[in-house]
Amino acid sequence: MTATGNPEKRKILVQLDGDPHPSVFDRVVAIDAGADEVFSYGGVRPEQVAGLVHGAIFTRGPKDLKRTALFIGGSDVSLGEQLLTAARKAMVPQFGLQVSVLLDANGANTTAAAAVRVAARHLSLKEVPALVLGGTGPVGQRVGLLLAHQGAQVRLASRQVSRAAAACQAILARVPDARLEPVGITNNDELRTALADRVLVIAAGAAGVVLLPESVRAACTSLKVAIDLNAVPPLGIEGLQVTDTAVERQGVVCYGAIGVGGTKMKLHRAAVATLFERNDQVLDATEVYALGDQL
Ligand SMILES: NC(=O)c1ccc[n+]([C@@H]2O[C@H](COP(=O)([O-])OP(=O)(O)OC[C@H]3O[C@@H](n4cnc5c(N)ncnc54)[C@H](OP(=O)(O)O)[C@@H]3O)[C@@H](O)[C@H]2O)c1
Repeated sequence: MTATGNPEKRKILVQLDGDPHPSVFDRVVAIDAGADEVFSYGGVRPEQVAGLVHGAIFTRGPKDLKRTALFIGGSDVSLGEQLLTAARKAMVPQFGLQVSVLLDANGANTTAAAAVRVAARHLSLKEVPALVLGGTGPVGQRVGLLLAHQGAQVRLASRQVSRAAAACQAILARVPDARLEPVGITNNDELRTALADRVLVIAAGAAGVVLLPESVRAACTSLKVAIDLNAVPPLGIEGLQVTDTAVERQGVVCYGAIGVGGTKMKLHRAAVATLFERNDQVLDATEVYALGDQL
């Protein structure tokens, strides 16, 4: 036993998942990222979280609690956010009785962080004119948030401008100096207008839905980087391949969902590994994005 805890204690990741079966994907990544044990709980509801968290924080002493951590997953991102709120509420930080927690429900944080990291390989994001298609979904909102954090000029799109405006308001609440413009897109003319003068486009629309036809993309002369997160055909940006990884098409650097996937996996593993460094971390979209500095 040392002042920093007992290195013999196994690293335990407690997986709280809103789905009936806790994600196998998340369990495998947890092991690959260095967890010795994964305790998986499925069908978790917010009112059940306190009991589960208390089991995690009241067993080991504060010095050893960095060897216990929480992972919040499941396909419902909104439920994941509620589980995170409940988990934070159940901790007792004033006595050091807390554990680090990572939220990555539906892979939304790691996917959004990877997309923006990939864009940053090719562009200085500060001031960059960007369009986020599907900007109201869990991934699109996070992409908008991360781009805004980097100082980009973000046009956030939805089929309904009111939904885009609500998503922009949510981002502004977290990044008060964000430069955001909500847009409603229901036809190719509106899409052309939204894309005009944009240097970066990230498509975060629903799986299997084309949001950017090739003809519209080809007509946009300002575009330099196009990233599509939809892996289910037809793809979100027509003319890209799902495996595109910095493939140049008509002068535009393109990434498909699998092309972004390598960075996403690295961020996911790095985030889980980071949990075991301290017992007071909350890793949400911006914290996961920051981990990309070390990749
Ligand atoms: N690689 C990974 O591990 C990974 C992880 C997570 C997500 N993803 C992918 O990332 C993308 C975004 O994920 P998400 O969960 O945020 O998506 P989502 O919530 O299913 O959809 C995002 C947005 O797409 C728009 N949309 C839905 N149906 C549409 C339709 N028929 N036509 C046009 N727009 C439509 C909606 O915006 P409006 O209603 O406001 O227009 C919705 O908010 C998906 O393609 C998903 O498969 C990949």
